[in-house]
Amino acid sequence: MAIIDLLNIHKHYEIQKILDGVNFHIDEGERIVIVGKNGSGKSTLMKIAAGELEFDDGERITRQNIEIRMLSQVPKFKEGLSVREAVEAGLLELQKAKERFDVLSAELAEDFENQAKLKEHAKISHYLDHHNAWNLDDKIERVLQNFQLKQFETKPVEMLSGGEQRRVSLASLLLQKPDVLLLDEPTNHLDVYMVEFLEELILKEKFTLLFISHDRTITCYDCSKVKMNGTREE
Ligand SMILES: Nc1ncnc2c1ncn2[C@@H]1O[C@H](COP(=O)(O)OP(=O)(O)OP(=O)(O)O)[C@@H](O)[C@H]1O
Ligand SMILES: [Mg+2]
Repeated sequence: MAIIDLLNIHKHYEIQKILDGVNFHIDEGERIVIVGKNGSGKSTLMKIAAGELEFDDGERITRQNIEIRMLSQVPKFKEGLSVREAVEAGLLELQKAKERFDVLSAELAEDFENQAKLKEHAKISHYLDHHNAWNLDDKIERVLQNFQLKQFETKPVEMLSGGEQRRVSLASLLLQKPDVLLLDEPTNHLDVYMVEFLEELILKEKFTLLFISHDRTITCYDCSKVKMNGTREE
């Protein structure tokens, strides 16, 4: 079964028909790049796949309990956040889970036969494993270094340049380790060094990945290519 399945999707804005019966699916572990002209509906399709945009007709089926995260073409941040806070903003749930895990561990040391607590402990442990989130503080540090954001960590995120803001969004997304990563033109504004770094990271991390790219230089050897006219190349 596909991890995301879009069936016969129709979408229009006012009188403009954008998607007219589009079928699209992505399987676990697959990497797909969407290519197409400006205005052909790539971002619209991705937002629908992410569950962020309503459509007029068709069906969106996703596997149960999967986490899908999307990098928007234009990054948005809550007002007033520093770079570090913006990176951490997507990690609150994982941080809370880790805190709860520590509390439960301490409680279970005294109350080790409490079945409800044991069950919750095991569930949180699985969740933290799944997201590789045991040492989040170390990971945040490493990611700030790798994305060359350390020197800006206390600076308001809205003061950063386009490429720097994109690095903040990417850093935060990758730390969340979602099941499916949707990236709308991730290499926009990035310099050559960062594009190479991102390529390596994406290839190493085995994400189920859908990305939109105009960038002919990005190399993804085992990506399938989907064109907005509906053709697919493996
Ligand atoms: N909220 C909106 N209201 C009205 N029209 C919209 C809206 N969002 C997108 N459109 C229009 O829908 C069309 C498809 O937009 P979309 O952003 O999906 O294109 P795209 O393929 O991602 O383009 P690009 O390569 O420039 O990013 C465009 O003509 C755009 O102007
Ligand atoms: Mg777009």
